[in-house]
Amino acid sequence: MIQPEASKRFWNRAARENAAWHIATGYTTESAEFFASGAREVDTFLSFAGLKLRGDERLLEIGSGVGRMTRRLAELAGSVVATDVSDEMLSRARTNLADLPNVSYVEVSGEGDLPVPDASVDAVFSYITMQHVPTAQAQERYFAEALRVLAPGGWALIQFRRGGVVPRMLDWVGHVWHLLRGRRTLSRAWRGARVAENTLRRHPSGDVTVDILPLGRRHIWVLARRSGGGALVR
Ligand SMILES: C[S@@+](CC[C@H](N)C(=O)[O-])C[C@H]1O[C@@H](n2cnc3c(N)ncnc32)[C@H](O)[C@@H]1O
Repeated sequence: MIQPEASKRFWNRAARENAAWHIATGYTTESAEFFASGAREVDTFLSFAGLKLRGDERLLEIGSGVGRMTRRLAELAGSVVATDVSDEMLSRARTNLADLPNVSYVEVSGEGDLPVPDASVDAVFSYITMQHVPTAQAQERYFAEALRVLAPGGWALIQFRRGGVVPRMLDWVGHVWHLLRGRRTLSRAWRGARVAENTLRRHPSGDVTVDILPLGRRHIWVLARRSGGGALVR
């Protein structure tokens, strides 16, 4: 049994020690270039999924960290709810994004619940976060919750680890590589779990479509769209 508090402790400590270094390989400070990397990645992944933000959407980000990608998301959408298991990451994000009045911050348990009302957002986005969520059940719950909070016409774009032997081996190469550089990658709060793609394909209601979009050898993006509303289509 994995203690939910373990993720909070791990990521709070990571935020205190060196947040940037635990968030994005190659960075040790929350510099302009660190945020520029987040902007580039947001643009790349939205374009990869064929999605465009119009500027008036309510977007929720799962695992926002110190706001590396949140900054760009807040430029592109009407408002952003930045969620994270770590209150220390969120507190740094608050400071880093103090110039952005359209971002709000919500600490989550880390077990998959999103404490926002049904159908209250137009888009959900999550990058390099599910891979750290320590159980498949919690990842499934995040996915179910993302669908619950989506308004008609909305979409969720969430990155997960890819299944299979080769991705698992490559992940372990990555864990060892990071371990040698001082990250505590043997912790389950870093290694996370893997959820079966078929589980993600199943969805609770007929008005949601789910596409699995592989990118690279270790990850998939899961794109879910709720019909209706007339907003936010490709
Ligand atoms: C590698 S960082 C990525 C942050 C951000 N997505 C980015 O790319 O800049 C992973 C983030 O996920 C958060 N996280 C880890 N486990 C989580 C969980 N179970 N639920 C929510 N957030 C979690 C961590 O606190 C951290 O901020």
